[in-house]
Amino acid sequence: MSQPRSAPRLLGLSGSLRRASYCTAILRTLGEGLGNRATLDIFDLKSVPLYNQDEEGELQPESVKALKRAITDCDGVLLISPEFNHGMTGVLKNALDWASRPTYASPFKCKPVLIMSASPAFTGGVRAQAHMFETLSAMLARVVVTPQVVIASVHDKIDDGRLVDDASLRFASEAIDDLLREIAGLQISRAA
Ligand SMILES: Cc1cc2nc3c(=O)[nH]c(=O)nc-3n(C[C@H](O)[C@H](O)[C@H](O)COP(=O)(O)O)c2cc1C
Repeated sequence: MSQPRSAPRLLGLSGSLRRASYCTAILRTLGEGLGNRATLDIFDLKSVPLYNQDEEGELQPESVKALKRAITDCDGVLLISPEFNHGMTGVLKNALDWASRPTYASPFKCKPVLIMSASPAFTGGVRAQAHMFETLSAMLARVVVTPQVVIASVHDKIDDGRLVDDASLRFASEAIDDLLREIAGLQISRAA
């Protein structure tokens, strides 16, 4: 008899280190709303130092090893970033650069990834998504094809550290369903 498959494990990365970050609040809320569909662990990027190629391989900082292990061990990644000067934040780009090694054989290779952005502006950080998509493509990640999760006027949609806007929650939840379908499809093709 085949064993029931355990719930997919998702990893959440927020491009903001701010204590009251809207992006991190969104991740937290989405994680709490997963029910038994999946689990979400958020990896805090605060401990990841600036990228230095002298510290590759055995010399990699412990936090970088932990980040790469977390990406390897999860079934899919939820990435959310604010837009900083029309791109993703340096914090997230720095983490992705560490995680992108070795080139074309990194923990991100073939990993299903859902990207999201949020901003107080009416543009919702959408330009950061173009940047994230480009960087993840270089890393051979499987960016989920879904309507872009862009959360505009985010300052009006967060209350007490949680996303409270129903339309945004529904929209993001549907995109997570697409991520979970991508993960399930990959698991089936790998088992075949
Ligand atoms: C250095 C910097 C650059 C920013 N550039 C943009 C931008 O290009 N577009 C935008 O919509 N918001 C921009 N913002 C505003 C951020 O979207 C806003 O501060 C957001 O709340 C940060 O995300 P967080 O709440 O998750 O920390 C910028 C903020 C900072 C600090």
